[in-house]
Amino acid sequence: MISVKTERELEVMRRAGRIAAGARALAGSMVRPGVTTMEIDKAVHDYIVSQGAKPSFLNYSGYPASACISVNDVVIHGIPDGRVLREGDIVSVDVGAYWGGFHGDCAATFACGSISAEAEKLIAVTKQSFFEGMKFARQGYRVSDISHAVQSYVEANGFSVVRSFVGHGVGEKLHESPEVPNFGAPGRGPRLVRGMTIAVEPMVNQGTYDVRVLKDQWTTVTTDGKLSAHYENTVAITDGEPEILTVTEEL
Ligand code: MF3
Ligand code: CO
Repeated sequence: MISVKTERELEVMRRAGRIAAGARALAGSMVRPGVTTMEIDKAVHDYIVSQGAKPSFLNYSGYPASACISVNDVVIHGIPDGRVLREGDIVSVDVGAYWGGFHGDCAATFACGSISAEAEKLIAVTKQSFFEGMKFARQGYRVSDISHAVQSYVEANGFSVVRSFVGHGVGEKLHESPEVPNFGAPGRGPRLVRGMTIAVEPMVNQGTYDVRVLKDQWTTVTTDGKLSAHYENTVAITDGEPEILTVTEEL
């Protein structure tokens, strides 16, 4: 069952989304050589709480932090720790905020100081692949029309999309149906209807799409050790343009 949100519920989700996006922007502003991922996580936590919200990820299935911070070959679910960021790293930050009974979920990859041209391209292609997907996040299209648009753009640029993790519906629960893969043939899956809210989140690898989960059961890395980037927003389907809910004033 895919939940359809009322205008009143969407108003709450705009607030949750704004808080999540503010936390993402704050985290991004902290990415520089010498900072630890734990310091960024603490700032994210304190910001979300200061807004009267709760970090969606903290204690979710036992997850021990407020943000996922995934450096270089870490694809997703990097657990913040004492790791010191270094010049040239690429740093994916994923955050969720729970406010008024609803979640906002978003992520982005940031450059630590100056990074390689290939890493710059990976980050740019990952972000643009989300917006390619948005062209199909409209009433009347099907879920996999988004998936196909993301995959086509990424592969045309020489990168690969992760298969074993996908985007998702989001609302009263962090993960709701439908699943929103970043790959696949078009014209499949549920039809998009006004009021659906989905987290579209391409995870894009420089090399193979294969990933593996480390023994901590969270940290997910590329099997070839090459770079990975992530970009995510919570999006509402409308009767026109999709509405991105995870936005801040300064964006
Ligand atoms: N944005 C990720 C997701 O939608 C974050 C989940 S991390 C977890 O799946 F800790 F909450 F699991
Ligand atoms: Co998500």
